[in-house]
Amino acid sequence: MSKSTLSRAIAVELARSGLSVRVADLDVLQGSQVDWHRDRLGAGLSPTPAVQLHPSLEDALAHIGEADVLVLDGPARADKETVAIAKACDLVVVPAGASLDDLRPAVRVAHSLTKAGIPGDRIICALSRISTEAEAEAARTFIVEAGYRVASGYLPERASYRVAQNSGRAVTEVSAPTLRIAAEKVVQSLIDALPE
Ligand SMILES: Nc1ncnc2c1ncn2[C@@H]1O[C@H](COP(=O)(O)OP(=O)(O)OP(=O)(O)O)[C@@H](O)[C@H]1O
Ligand SMILES: [Mg+2]
Repeated sequence: MSKSTLSRAIAVELARSGLSVRVADLDVLQGSQVDWHRDRLGAGLSPTPAVQLHPSLEDALAHIGEADVLVLDGPARADKETVAIAKACDLVVVPAGASLDDLRPAVRVAHSLTKAGIPGDRIICALSRISTEAEAEAARTFIVEAGYRVASGYLPERASYRVAQNSGRAVTEVSAPTLRIAAEKVVQSLIDALPE
């Protein structure tokens, strides 16, 4: 649910602000960030944060001093490693969609993190694949009532976001201005939630 999508956009926008940024792709089976990075380099886009595939969290954390920000893109399934990954982070972004099928697992992940001792203010949800304002509002309410923060705005469900990412772009670099503004709002809100 949009983990890699948001990781890319956060990395690109942080790099645009002048920080050195690395993306750690923790999904060795998929390696989708590495593929995207190759596409991005091929398309001559900048900034292009470094992307590396890591077989383990430990391996990724060994590179923590090499950039101002390390964006950890978690593997496809939330499992026991999720807590370990989250403990290593200053901010944990939990993407969530509009359906209860997406919202319940997202809140469950957040609960498992707080239960493991991660403070609630280090967790933030972000809405993606939303079709209507009413869906966004209902999803936001669901998450807030569960006790978690939600980033401003949302990524609507749009093929243009896939098209952009298919050519090495981030969702904040999509050509349609309204979609770009929507993505920028979410990503900026996530960046603003980062501790100093
Ligand atoms: N708001 C959106 N609108 C349309 N397509 C989207 C949106 N967000 C993500 N996608 C697409 O959905 C697919 C899955 O998204 P993404 O790779 O970001 O999810 P993920 O959480 O990293 O998945 P995985 O658990 O497999 O790693 C991608 O093809 C992506 O382009
Ligand atoms: Mg992914």
